[in-house]
Amino acid sequence: MRIIIVGFGVVGKSTVRVLAEHREQLRSKFGLNPKIVAIVDINGALVDPKGMPLDEALKATEKGSSFEQFETFRKDAKLEDLLSELECDAMVETTPTNLKTGQPGLDHLRMAMKNGAHVITTNKGPLALAMPALLELAEHNRVSLKFSGTVGGGTPMLDLAKKCMDGLAIKSMRGILNGTTNYILTKMDSEGMTFEAALDEARVKGYAEADPTYDVDALDPAAKLVILANWVMGKSLSINDVKITGIRGVTKEKIADAKAAGKALKLIAYCGDDGIEVAPRAILREHPLNVGGTTNALTFSTDLADEITIVGKGAGGIETASAVLRDMIDIRKIYTRHAARTPIFVPRRE
Ligand SMILES: NC(=O)c1ccc[n+]([C@@H]2O[C@H](COP(=O)([O-])OP(=O)(O)OC[C@H]3O[C@@H](n4cnc5c(N)ncnc54)[C@H](OP(=O)(O)O)[C@@H]3O)[C@@H](O)[C@H]2O)c1
Repeated sequence: MRIIIVGFGVVGKSTVRVLAEHREQLRSKFGLNPKIVAIVDINGALVDPKGMPLDEALKATEKGSSFEQFETFRKDAKLEDLLSELECDAMVETTPTNLKTGQPGLDHLRMAMKNGAHVITTNKGPLALAMPALLELAEHNRVSLKFSGTVGGGTPMLDLAKKCMDGLAIKSMRGILNGTTNYILTKMDSEGMTFEAALDEARVKGYAEADPTYDVDALDPAAKLVILANWVMGKSLSINDVKITGIRGVTKEKIADAKAAGKALKLIAYCGDDGIEVAPRAILREHPLNVGGTTNALTFSTDLADEITIVGKGAGGIETASAVLRDMIDIRKIYTRHAARTPIFVPRRE
């Protein structure tokens, strides 16, 4: 599989590491032989039409390494040109999330699919804004659009619902889809901290960005909820359809009131027949959703199997790269099956 990686930060680098470290297993267990033909960053790209040796690609992930030091570096290389030049099978998109415009990821996804490349993305932006159109574009171009890493990091929330719940109707979903806000609310609950003090601590620990808007104003979990709702419940929504309330208004007093009632205040993402929202909500302390720290959790309410809850780390470079790997293996499986079913044309001998 010839791959272009776009965006070379935490997830892009972790993906290269995971591919390098698991190459034998990928080959022997899944028949997957990933060849990285380009790594595209904001200033240009490392390009090797034969597929760069993974050890070479790994060097580019080392601290202090810059693309300029590699012979294969092409300054100002454009993704659009590389897609047609390199006969790439799949693009892995890991540029920063923008929930207002979806860019640059939105253009990258469209370009790749129009060029006949499968897409694996960990970037929520394009999907939060234009998921139905992007899925349609994938179908039109007969390629796969995969996005396991956009929700739950390495925790297979989307796959659990889509692949393991055949025969069940999912009536609703509710969950904790943002680690930073869960860390803040957990600290407020367990140590009686104010919102501001808990946010400061989250910043010091590296859980919160300098600008924590996407987290504390709940745009990040709203984007993930849209992806879940569209994929798992067959909705056709964008982030603009979600009623969103962040956690800036959560006070020590509100946390204490919930506690006195045997509950915990959590930032809950919810989608059901009665609407779609993200808001602070009190949940029973003994409910499996009551997870602490940066942990994420999601409960599916089903018709036949009651509630099913999945719990795991919601982020992390290597964890998210594991989701990229799952998507790659999935694409490999789908197209091996297709190839096996496609009748081989044998020219008739006269
Ligand atoms: N980190 C996680 O745990 C995690 C988990 C799940 C999903 N995600 C999502 O995965 C994506 C990547 O996350 P990350 O943590 O790896 O982010 P990151 O460390 O900020 O990496 C993003 C990289 O993309 C580069 N970039 C920006 N614009 C670009 C462009 N036009 N073309 C090519 N490269 C471009 C950035 O370069 P500059 O730094 O020079 O701008 C940076 O190197 C994000 O959308 C994020 O929301 C992350």
